[in-house]
Amino acid sequence: MAFKPKLLMVDPSHFEVSYVINPWMKPGAWHEDPAGHLRQAQACSAALHQALTEAGAEVVMVPGAPGLPDMVFPANAAVVLDGRAIVARFACDERRGEEALFLNAFRSFEARGLLDTVVQYPEGIFQEGAGDCLWDDTRQQFWAGYGQRSAKASLQVTEDFFNVPVVPLELVSPRFYHLDTCFLVLSGGEILYYPPAFSAEGRAVIEGLAGKENVLEASDEDAAAFSVNAVNFGKEIVMARPPAKLKARLEERGYHVRSVDLDPFILSGGGAYCMTLRLNRFSAVKAAAEK
Ligand code: ARG
Repeated sequence: MAFKPKLLMVDPSHFEVSYVINPWMKPGAWHEDPAGHLRQAQACSAALHQALTEAGAEVVMVPGAPGLPDMVFPANAAVVLDGRAIVARFACDERRGEEALFLNAFRSFEARGLLDTVVQYPEGIFQEGAGDCLWDDTRQQFWAGYGQRSAKASLQVTEDFFNVPVVPLELVSPRFYHLDTCFLVLSGGEILYYPPAFSAEGRAVIEGLAGKENVLEASDEDAAAFSVNAVNFGKEIVMARPPAKLKARLEERGYHVRSVDLDPFILSGGGAYCMTLRLNRFSAVKAAAEK
């Protein structure tokens, strides 16, 4: 690996499941034992932090805020590439307060030289960050989900800002409301995806661009375990406890799978990928220009 991946995480002290903005969220289950769940969430977040570090990443931790429990999912905060960040516009009122806080955090990264440019999607154009916009290093393009939390109009904004191709994928199921819940790009060029989350057209685009030999279909069980929502760099994959079969399929392809218990976060509809945001991802053009 050329350099250490830098991943943003948010301290989970203010995490809870207190509202429902996706069909996985279970405030009832959370409120049976809020203190116990919070303790468990803190332990799970620490285990994720440790797994990422052991896999070779550096974790940058920022504080959360009371009343904004979903800040623990910074994948939704922004799309980042080549030192440029474009901050999200949340579709749900419940998360809109996160925008100003993440904007501040990114401005401080800019001041520290971690990022060069920070802007935000135009008002009224919903886009929920890297959760709906996944970089594909093999194909030098973004895959962008729309139709649930992100608006189709956001794709052109992304393309203009980063000056790279953005491939639209329509999300057709409220259970798979962000692209990262049903789509994973691997460093070897494979795509792990859950077909029922996509339109027939989307499935054809994925197979066409990735090539049949690179497409791995996730099962109902894989998707429900939030294992598709995984962090990958090099040969390392960190994911919420995967079904044995999925782990074996990935290992066959030469990946090293680290499994983490993320149950408290699954109660909010999130897994490993959405609990992180990669801050130092570079396109081949940028990497060549730096040489
Ligand atoms: N409760 C959060 C929401 O509905 C979960 C977000 C998970 N993030 C993700 N990128 N899938 O917004």
